[in-house]
Amino acid sequence: MNLDKTFWSSRYEQGETGWDIGYASPALIAYMENKPRTAKVLIPGAGNSYEAEKLWEMGFKNITVLDLSEIPLANLKTRIPDFPEKQLVCDDFFNHKAAYDIILEQTFFCALSPDLRTKYVQKMAELLAPGGELAGLLFDAPMNAEHPPFGGNKAEYLSLFGEKLQVLEMEACPNSIAPRMGKEVFFRAIVK
Ligand SMILES: C[S@@+](CC[C@H](N)C(=O)[O-])C[C@H]1O[C@@H](n2cnc3c(N)ncnc32)[C@H](O)[C@@H]1O
Repeated sequence: MNLDKTFWSSRYEQGETGWDIGYASPALIAYMENKPRTAKVLIPGAGNSYEAEKLWEMGFKNITVLDLSEIPLANLKTRIPDFPEKQLVCDDFFNHKAAYDIILEQTFFCALSPDLRTKYVQKMAELLAPGGELAGLLFDAPMNAEHPPFGGNKAEYLSLFGEKLQVLEMEACPNSIAPRMGKEVFFRAIVK
């Protein structure tokens, strides 16, 4: 299965977006609540990014929303016409170059082919500014073997992320949305 731009754009075109919860993830918003509004934030594989919309309303203006498909980026621009074009990046995460204070993960890791996981961690380490933090949600369940979402478990993630990052927290998420309750961990990691 080629998980490329055509694959993801056709999912949006056909409305096959089972991952899309339709509102900002409570766990991510709670995490961001007390963060400085000046923080430079990246949301990779952002999809429709209700988190970006909510964070924008909360006063975070330095948010970069990145996705392979232009469809969800256009959707966000429709919802927030003032959102700066240059902060809507249609590109492959692995080609992106910049440095961020905060990077938010939600159903992006699980959308990538598992053979890209080491590269994902390495790229996250490259994209974090000094003192920056990667935070978010990972499925703590087997999920699918042949197609996304690909699953995993805490032990596997600790070993994988530990290659390049120091994991500060990785625990069962207390404020998951109902369908994901008990099936995901919330984590925070910094560069070693
Ligand atoms: C499962 S969806 C999750 C979207 C969003 N994070 C959410 O929670 O609704 C995965 C998203 O990652 C994007 N994506 C997949 N591979 C990517 C890559 N290599 N670089 C950037 N975006 C990618 C897809 O286009 C899709 O929008």
